[in-house]
Amino acid sequence: MSTPTHHRTVLVTGAARRLGRQIALTLAAGGWQVAVHYRDSLDDAIETVASCASEARASAYFDADFADEAAVRALLPRVVAHFGRVDAVVNSAALFEHDDAQSFGFAHLEKHLRSNTAAPILLAQALHQHVQERAAAGEAQAQGVVVNLLDQKLWNQNPDFFSYTLSKAALEAANTMLAMALAPRVRVVGVAPGLTLTSHLLSDDKFQQLHTLSPLGRSSTPHDVAATVQFALENRSITGTTLLVDGGQHLMKFERDFSLM
Ligand SMILES: NC(=O)c1ccc[n+]([C@@H]2O[C@H](COP(=O)([O-])OP(=O)(O)OC[C@H]3O[C@@H](n4cnc5c(N)ncnc54)[C@H](OP(=O)(O)O)[C@@H]3O)[C@@H](O)[C@H]2O)c1
Repeated sequence: MSTPTHHRTVLVTGAARRLGRQIALTLAAGGWQVAVHYRDSLDDAIETVASCASEARASAYFDADFADEAAVRALLPRVVAHFGRVDAVVNSAALFEHDDAQSFGFAHLEKHLRSNTAAPILLAQALHQHVQERAAAGEAQAQGVVVNLLDQKLWNQNPDFFSYTLSKAALEAANTMLAMALAPRVRVVGVAPGLTLTSHLLSDDKFQQLHTLSPLGRSSTPHDVAATVQFALENRSITGTTLLVDGGQHLMKFERDFSLM
């Protein structure tokens, strides 16, 4: 990035907990100011900001429910109003609710498309507009970058979590289209983790066992994913592609989602 380290500001969505939190901490340690987005997890968002603040210049938290288009559209301007500028967006927040070919319906799909596809696209659109405004105000080198969290299962499909998978497949297509549409000012990069964190559907033992199911004998860790996000943000030659961080899981065939195996 062309801006001085202490001026770089990133909005990380879904950063109160889990993978988004690790991404926020890694970027803060790398000198980024972090806008921590959350929906319901206020206490965790406050804790993430406190953990970031010890290492970065400043961080702050912002709420928004991505089911609400107006709330999504308002989010980036709120971050700009707080920090004065935004250089990057990491779209990590996602809805992950189960459906399958039998239970699929408009309501399931629409919910996932709003949170997992439309909101990331609107945030990319808003970042592009902000960067254009900075350029028009005289910052000739104004640039931005968007990282979209995808999923190795797009390259290794199974029919579980049908609407979630469709929403991420649409985001992967948007990743390509946005990279074309928003260049040269804004880069757009996908990062696709493998099985990284467990869920309430898996015991610890089962998670450890599934984590070894990959050509490399281990899937991704939160640190692996966060480090890749940082690389994508800071490498100025990458756009319109996806980095798979999954120990090679996408090279294997799984009949079911990990959480239902
Ligand atoms: N974890 C894995 O192993 C794994 C594997 C492959 C891909 N990924 C991808 O990596 C990303 C992070 O994974 P994760 O496991 O950390 O995600 P997660 O725990 O399932 O969700 C992250 C956050 O998303 C927020 N969120 C959900 N619906 C929202 C909505 N409608 N509006 C606003 N925020 C909403 C929630 O924030 P609040 O808690 O504040 O409500 C939640 O804490 C996701 O995009 C996921 O698809 C993860």
